[in-house]
Amino acid sequence: MYYIGVDLGTSSVKLLLVDEAGQICGTVTKDYPLEFPKPGWSQQNPEDWKQAVIEGIPELLKGFDGSRVAGIGCGGQMHGLVVLDENDQVIRPAILWNDGRTVNQVDYLNDVIGKEKLSAYTANIAFAGFTAPKLLWMRDNEPENFAKIRKIMLPKDYINYCLTGVHSCDYSDASGMLLLDVENKCWSKEMMEICGVEASQMPQLFESYQVIGTVLPEMAAALGIPETTRVVAGAGDNAAAAVGTGVVGQGGCNISLGTSGTIFISSKSFGVDPNNALHAFAHADGGWHLMGCMLSAASCNKWLCEDILKTTDYAAEQQPITADKLGQNHVYFLPYLMGERSPINDTNARGTFIGMTMDTSRADLVQAVLEGVAFAIRDSFEVAKSLGLAINSTKFCGGGSKSALWRTIFANVLGIPLELVKTEQGPGYGGAMLAMVGCGRYADVQSAVDDLVEVASVVEPDPELTAKYEARYQQFRKIYPACKTLFSQLL
Ligand code: XUL
Repeated sequence: MYYIGVDLGTSSVKLLLVDEAGQICGTVTKDYPLEFPKPGWSQQNPEDWKQAVIEGIPELLKGFDGSRVAGIGCGGQMHGLVVLDENDQVIRPAILWNDGRTVNQVDYLNDVIGKEKLSAYTANIAFAGFTAPKLLWMRDNEPENFAKIRKIMLPKDYINYCLTGVHSCDYSDASGMLLLDVENKCWSKEMMEICGVEASQMPQLFESYQVIGTVLPEMAAALGIPETTRVVAGAGDNAAAAVGTGVVGQGGCNISLGTSGTIFISSKSFGVDPNNALHAFAHADGGWHLMGCMLSAASCNKWLCEDILKTTDYAAEQQPITADKLGQNHVYFLPYLMGERSPINDTNARGTFIGMTMDTSRADLVQAVLEGVAFAIRDSFEVAKSLGLAINSTKFCGGGSKSALWRTIFANVLGIPLELVKTEQGPGYGGAMLAMVGCGRYADVQSAVDDLVEVASVVEPDPELTAKYEARYQQFRKIYPACKTLFSQLL
């Protein structure tokens, strides 16, 4: 049998065809546009996602027997608000996880409702990208659209809805809506009331590996798969990526370096960061996790190379950054190109180079960007350590993890070994693993991990370089506090 893993990302959807033994038989990637209609706004058309999946699956199955597809599992970009009207039409473009338009609504939630109450209701406080502030934004700014809402869902749930007709959400992704009582795994009545929404508008909740339904006949025909194909609830992309790198159960850590950058610490029991700097979310294995999320990670390098330096040859840009240059750079970069979520929660924060002189080179700037992203993840890593979590090593995945230089920088900025898994295919592989569990190929997520995930290589930190980076990190951490007030005045 085959399983299809779907990674519904911010710039593209990546589809994986996985066989019974967990081998990847094929991949297809389909891009779609991302709109930034105003500074700090970020939105996408859900129909583009649907179209990409509908075109992509038949392409993925070319040369394979589609009748042998048993299950589909999706890992999707989190927090995006998708709203449908009474005719199941999308009301407005989805407002994405990295959208910062909800500053006033976030202030209202955190300051007027109060962080303590929010944390008691949901285990989290409000961040600009979360879903609840977006509902309030719609209520305040687009009342006619808000009045039309019949169904509220997250990006991958829209795909699942198109596939099955079932309005569902899994606990890991639902955690990022600020509408879920994460500890008790049910919608929070208080939060629904605060946001002016009703239970009938909310999706039905599932564990990530549970089957929500089978593929609708017309979809099955269009995709070339059987009507018996089971669709599991799937997961937020970070939880799905953690499954794919084997970070399930107690105390595993995964760092994902994609458009966003996340540090994800799995746990068998529910726990909250008392300062709510890290998110307290459910995991796709039935447990929970803490997570720090930076809004621009590999995207900072993409921005510098493609938009500013006008090149897509990232390797050539990194080539002059030889081992002797590491830990010496006099330039620092704050990677806050979309504002920042964890741990500073500051929509006004901005990308900043500091420390340049007449001898600063192009390569110094590239290096500063790679280091600035690692330092910013270190900020969340420090929060996790301050909670008493022992992180002695971490899995490392995502597009940015393909750079050997960036791996060295991360291992030494964090001072821990980075483990790279053999089948690194991001959230899509985790999605396929969840489908395997839903279809009975494995009894649970842990068994799938035990059988399918293997560490292929380890990047060890070097004590001398770690010490150099420690000194530079201590400098880096002074920069944001020095700029914070200025950032709010730049608007
Ligand atoms: C996590 C987050 C991002 C997106 C990226 O909280 O907002 O990692 O899920 O797709």
